[in-house]
Amino acid sequence: MIVVTGATGNVGRPLVEALAAAGEEVVAVSRREAGELPAGVTHRRGDLADTDGLKGLFEGAESVYLLVPGLGDELRPREIVAAAVARGVRRIVLQSSQLAGTRPESVSHGPLRAFEAAVRESGLEWTVLRPGGFASNAFFWTDQVRATRTVAAPFADVALPLVDPADIAEVAAAALRGPGHAGRTYVLTGPVAVTPREQVRALSEAMGVPVGFAALGADEARERLVRFLPEEAVDGMLSVMGDPREEERRVSPDVERVLGRAPRPFSAWAERHADAFA
Ligand SMILES: NC(=O)c1ccc[n+]([C@@H]2O[C@H](COP(=O)([O-])OP(=O)(O)OC[C@H]3O[C@@H](n4cnc5c(N)ncnc54)[C@H](OP(=O)(O)O)[C@@H]3O)[C@@H](O)[C@H]2O)c1
Repeated sequence: MIVVTGATGNVGRPLVEALAAAGEEVVAVSRREAGELPAGVTHRRGDLADTDGLKGLFEGAESVYLLVPGLGDELRPREIVAAAVARGVRRIVLQSSQLAGTRPESVSHGPLRAFEAAVRESGLEWTVLRPGGFASNAFFWTDQVRATRTVAAPFADVALPLVDPADIAEVAAAALRGPGHAGRTYVLTGPVAVTPREQVRALSEAMGVPVGFAALGADEARERLVRFLPEEAVDGMLSVMGDPREEERRVSPDVERVLGRAPRPFSAWAERHADAFA
């Protein structure tokens, strides 16, 4: 049986679907009710921050997909992994972040690095996924697109190879089910670097209506983002979006290596999610 944490989010939902479609027994974990899940999937309500309840989350699992919320702060990586070991889990696949590798000095990604260390030192078969920026971060624009048919965003022409969460999910499913992934760390990106302006164009084409782009200053963007996210996370994000390092701009071969096909472009994500912006 496979336990998936973060099962109702951007990556968790397609992962649970992929595993169920492949005939795996799946337990989906989240704090709130899960809504609709594929037939046969069991839901287990639980909080990764609740140390006492951890063992119950992993009961009966042979493999675990460990997706930690946010940046994983306020969670205890070693206790979470130890609870999985204590329950007899044999394989663990961790969803980390590319920035855990490219920005080892960043405070905001310290917790994800601690999760990586806990998983690598667990004695279990482990795989670490390090995705770059998600295509689904464009959901941040839903309200403004609905209200004004315009996106105001910073760094209009800085390109990053955003990854489709559905590709992360497919790689995760492969690592959970197949041989050959133990001890591997995969960097997951899309097939090409795409700028915010190009993303808005793709969204507009997918929706079949004009959507404008308004350049936003970095300070203004920061002001808006800190309403929703911790300051250090926002500063980390803006630094990557505005001044990405060489390896953060680069397309990684790992999605194609694992799946045997090219990663999905941003336009494919936009087509699947256009309704959310209408
Ligand atoms: N966005 C990016 O560009 C990016 C890039 C690289 C890495 N990442 C990493 O990817 C992860 C986010 O993935 P995602 O976008 O798929 O997630 P998401 O859509 O934000 O969903 C979060 C999931 O975790 C569950 N959850 C939240 N807090 C929980 C808790 N305390 N205990 C148990 N479950 C909890 C949520 O359900 P409930 O709320 O019902 O519990 C939901 O199922 C983070 O670790 C992030 O650092 C993101």
